[in-house]
Amino acid sequence: MRIGVLTSGGDCPGMNPCIRSIVRFGIYKGLEVMGIRRGYAGLIDNDIIQMNAGSVSGIIYKGGTILKTARSKYFMEKDGQKKAVENIRKSRIDALIVIGGDGSLRGANVLSKVWKIPVVGVPSTIDNDIWGTDFSIGFFTAVSTALEAIDKIRDTATSHERLFLIEVMGRTCGAIALWSGVAGGAEDILIPEKHTDLDEICDRLEEGRKRGKVSSIIIVAEGNKSGSVFEIASRISKKINYESRVVVLGHLQRGGSPCAWDRVLGTMLGKAAVDALFKGESNVMVGFVNGKIKVSSLENVLNNEKQADLDLYSLNEIMAT
Ligand code: F6P
Repeated sequence: MRIGVLTSGGDCPGMNPCIRSIVRFGIYKGLEVMGIRRGYAGLIDNDIIQMNAGSVSGIIYKGGTILKTARSKYFMEKDGQKKAVENIRKSRIDALIVIGGDGSLRGANVLSKVWKIPVVGVPSTIDNDIWGTDFSIGFFTAVSTALEAIDKIRDTATSHERLFLIEVMGRTCGAIALWSGVAGGAEDILIPEKHTDLDEICDRLEEGRKRGKVSSIIIVAEGNKSGSVFEIASRISKKINYESRVVVLGHLQRGGSPCAWDRVLGTMLGKAAVDALFKGESNVMVGFVNGKIKVSSLENVLNNEKQADLDLYSLNEIMAT
């Protein structure tokens, strides 16, 4: 059996350990493993290379993806998909493992459902917005990266007695904001899943100042519903006369060496994906739920929304008092 592996969508720390696991476990099981470069775009362009145990040497600690990645618009069209499928057949690839986030798993679903290619997905995104796994590969490294920045900014916020608003990534999901906010002791966290009244935030900040707080940090998820981080900062500053600064962490949250958990998760899910193909499963995603590997149908994964941990949100409100 010959399998193909690709990484698609936004890169994230832990993709490399996952590729390494698929290649090495695949070879251990007697499979031939082909690497498809630049995600679905590479599949369309027939950018396919043979992988061996040596081609994944020295990558476990590296961020990004050695296979490169892309967001291919052409693959969304029937024409692009047809070319991709022709190349899969030409390269005699029997089944495919797709490592990526929501958009990439949608692509995997199409390949499997419409074009009858056996596909297994591996959830890999810093956003942690995928149903069917407690954590996606890359999430904890991104949270740790954001936290490192928050801790540094806290020094300046305290020294200058200022308010800082820090925008973190996550697309429409507030998980990075929530986890980095709780870990960083944020005074407030704005996430898309919870309506936040800016007047209430102002009241809480005022109360904090009365109690002797000399600085404040608000973590703002990029997908929050209260407006741009700059607008929010200026509204709060004006209302309660609190000098503020804005920091947008942006893409520095995507890179960097994967933390221990993302390396182990990538390794476990890579192996699980090969196992699933071996068992003849297709159109599924492997995930990690309640401490165990769980295989879910891609239909379920894509039709269910991962719920935000609102208990964690409430807990932060108590901690920030
Ligand atoms: O999905 C990962 C992510 O980093 C999101 O958090 C963010 O909204 C988006 O990708 C940014 O995408 P791009 O790198 O294409 O600008």
